[in-house]
Amino acid sequence: MMTKIYYFSGTGNTLAAAKRLALLLDGEVFNIAGCMQMPEYTAFAAERIVLMFPAYAYGVPFIVRRFVQRFRFDSPYIAALVTYGSAPGGALAEIAAVMKKQGGRLSFVSGIPSVENYIPIFGTPSEDICKKRLALQHDAVNAAALALAAGKQKNTVPFHPFSRLISGLFRLGKKFFVQAYTLNKKCNGCGLCVKICPVAAITLQNGKPVFGGACEHCQACLNWCPCQAVDYMRLKPGVPRYHHPDIEVAEMIVR
Ligand SMILES: Cc1cc2nc3c(=O)[nH]c(=O)nc-3n(C[C@H](O)[C@H](O)[C@H](O)COP(=O)(O)O)c2cc1C
Repeated sequence: MMTKIYYFSGTGNTLAAAKRLALLLDGEVFNIAGCMQMPEYTAFAAERIVLMFPAYAYGVPFIVRRFVQRFRFDSPYIAALVTYGSAPGGALAEIAAVMKKQGGRLSFVSGIPSVENYIPIFGTPSEDICKKRLALQHDAVNAAALALAAGKQKNTVPFHPFSRLISGLFRLGKKFFVQAYTLNKKCNGCGLCVKICPVAAITLQNGKPVFGGACEHCQACLNWCPCQAVDYMRLKPGVPRYHHPDIEVAEMIVR
């Protein structure tokens, strides 16, 4: 059966999960950030389609909402899998609602526990925590692959008002939070942050990155920067960064 997996990922957790799922189901992976450059109303067709993305503030990343709103999905079986650091909140209910509004229907939804990557808020995870969470992610992807292969139906998840509030506030606030990104003296103007930003929110001006309002807060720029030159809130030089250990920076480049 032909399986197409569309993923969004900032620090590689979701990409690693998508690649493993593709291996288990003999599927193909596509970066949502790249797909967004395709003409509007393009139809994505496959016998099985899987959307994979991280939970952001108990909800769905804005780019993933726009992806579902902008394109058509022709498939008898569409699934959504959300990676998360501690609790996905209403992310799965939200994606199901967005899909329904577009006239589509999700057959299966599930969470994939992963390493928390919002390190400016929660701190860099210890080696021990990473090990445990990576094992959980591995097992959850295996379980999801079995469920998808069996054509399992599971698509009801409540969207609690608290999740709705938090994800709504995040969506409203995200263009203001971008002001928290600052550059330290270590920046050498290599431009990698521009190439990996999934929403083209970073431009080089006078050889230095400038952070713009379209930012998704995916944490890619500050975690993949080879010089640790991007600071954000309590993330200062010398504080270890995080990305999924099996993912190379070359896989994250979108432009
Ligand atoms: C802006 C932001 C908000 C997040 N919100 C949540 C959340 O509400 N619940 C949760 O469990 N994890 C949350 N996380 C953690 C990510 O969902 C998790 O680490 C995910 O696996 C990251 O995937 P990626 O490496 O593919 O980008 C958040 C991360 C970021 C950057």
